[in-house]
Amino acid sequence: MEPRAESYPTDRLPGDVDLDVGVDVETLRALARSLACEAGEQVRSGRPERVEVAATKSNDVDPVTDMDRAVEARLRRRIAAERPNDAILGEEGDDVAGTSGLTWVLDPIDGTVNYLYGVASYAVSVAVVAGPVDPERWTALAGCVHSVVDGHTWTAARGGGAERDGRPLRVNRPESLARSLLGTGFGYAPERRARQGEVLAHVLPRVRDIRRLGSAAIDLCLLAEGALDLYYERGLNPWDLAAGALVAAEAGAWVGGLRGRGPGSAMTVAGATPVVTELVRLLEDADAGGAEGPAEGTEG
Ligand code: IPD
Ligand code: CA
Repeated sequence: MEPRAESYPTDRLPGDVDLDVGVDVETLRALARSLACEAGEQVRSGRPERVEVAATKSNDVDPVTDMDRAVEARLRRRIAAERPNDAILGEEGDDVAGTSGLTWVLDPIDGTVNYLYGVASYAVSVAVVAGPVDPERWTALAGCVHSVVDGHTWTAARGGGAERDGRPLRVNRPESLARSLLGTGFGYAPERRARQGEVLAHVLPRVRDIRRLGSAAIDLCLLAEGALDLYYERGLNPWDLAAGALVAAEAGAWVGGLRGRGPGSAMTVAGATPVVTELVRLLEDADAGGAEGPAEGTEG
């Protein structure tokens, strides 16, 4: 796909949003890249030999470290300086209101458990969206996922394609579900995990294999570059998927939910058609987006 700049004047935006006229998605992509890479350098250079848990969030196994907080604080300061009229939604801080119609969606470390243990799959995720601050309804404009350990940097701009370190990305077109390598992940709540285990038992015999790498943002970018064929996960928070879902979509993936819904906390599924449609059906058959213990979207 040929990268091209696009602008979103107010009259072409979904919903009734008061957006700065003529905001250029390539400019937003460049800013997302700069923010994520700078934050990634902070994570890389500041990782102590032994990382401590600073606090826990939704439950005892859902950790936050000092680095999560420090990196998000820095991202917020940079955005306030560069884009003072934009809103901010971040994993580790209070929502900041804006007047531009744009919201920056931040995950300072996606894959915090990997960061804690020194497993190499964790990333900084920065995206900017227009419209309602809800992944099922927003319009993602630009995003960047920066993998901290290997330095790989995936970016996307709406209508401008996805790339990793300058190389345009295209998803795989697997020949069948049975030949597909599938990424997924699990939430932190025991009730959710028990249900996710049941769904996985239904899916696993029908695919090539599964990978649980521990960062939804990286999973979606690996899908974009063809290192995974398909991906699904229930319970993602907006910051887990904001940048990665745009990277996947701009690389040609269908990204959505079950039963005609958009991607979001209830379910996020990604991959190339037509095989992704088979996965959606399989998940619907397993009632993967159905009732479970805790309220949706309250984790992490
Ligand atoms: C988590 C990761 C993980 C996914 C969880 C997320 P965090 O984010 O993306 O891969 O399975 O659902 O909560 O807690 O490391 O920022
Ligand atoms: Ca996350």
